[in-house]
Amino acid sequence: MNLIVAADSRWGIGKNGGLLADLPTDMKYFREHTRNRVVVMGRRTLESLPGKKGLPKRVNFVLTSNADFEAERCTVVHSEDELWEALSKYEPDEVFLIGGATLYNRFYKYCDKLYVTKIDADLGADTFIVDFDKDPDFEIISESEPVTENGLTYRFVIYKKKDD
Ligand SMILES: NC(=O)c1ccc[n+]([C@@H]2O[C@H](COP(=O)([O-])OP(=O)(O)OC[C@H]3O[C@@H](n4cnc5c(N)ncnc54)[C@H](OP(=O)(O)O)[C@@H]3O)[C@@H](O)[C@H]2O)c1
Repeated sequence: MNLIVAADSRWGIGKNGGLLADLPTDMKYFREHTRNRVVVMGRRTLESLPGKKGLPKRVNFVLTSNADFEAERCTVVHSEDELWEALSKYEPDEVFLIGGATLYNRFYKYCDKLYVTKIDADLGADTFIVDFDKDPDFEIISESEPVTENGLTYRFVIYKKKDD
């Protein structure tokens, strides 16, 4: 499994249930990495998407404890065991964790690559993920040139889990 996220300088990723910034080049990067792949998200992230529907052109899995929850284009799973069972049908490299904070913080250690869009600003988030720079099990393997858009500068950084 891989993970893809946009985080600000304090590792903030969201505010008021939504994203922190509108970054078109980052949205394109997200689409290119996840198109025709399998995406995994928490119920709150699903509810932040347009129409509260799964993303088109992807296999969508949503994790919730609510046995009655349904959402268009989504397969709903209700526990970690059920999630791993469902994902076992796919190549790990095809699977992308797409949020939110609860799922990133719980599952990033099971990811091989972390695709992090690092925004060089404090955007006043109310939702945070762990600082991947402080996890000795991961190392940065690539970092793009900066992109400036809508008054914000950011980089595409890829972390990889170190070999045992
Ligand atoms: N910057 C980015 O790249 C990015 C990406 C995605 C999301 N976000 C932001 O992140 C924020 C949402 O994050 P969040 O942490 O509040 O929510 P979340 O991780 O999207 O969803 C949390 C929900 O997932 C379900 N869940 C989690 N673990 C579970 C388990 N073990 N078993 C069953 N269900 C489980 C629960 O749903 P139930 O309550 O229904 O049981 C829980 O309330 C929003 O602001 C969103 O915009 C940012």
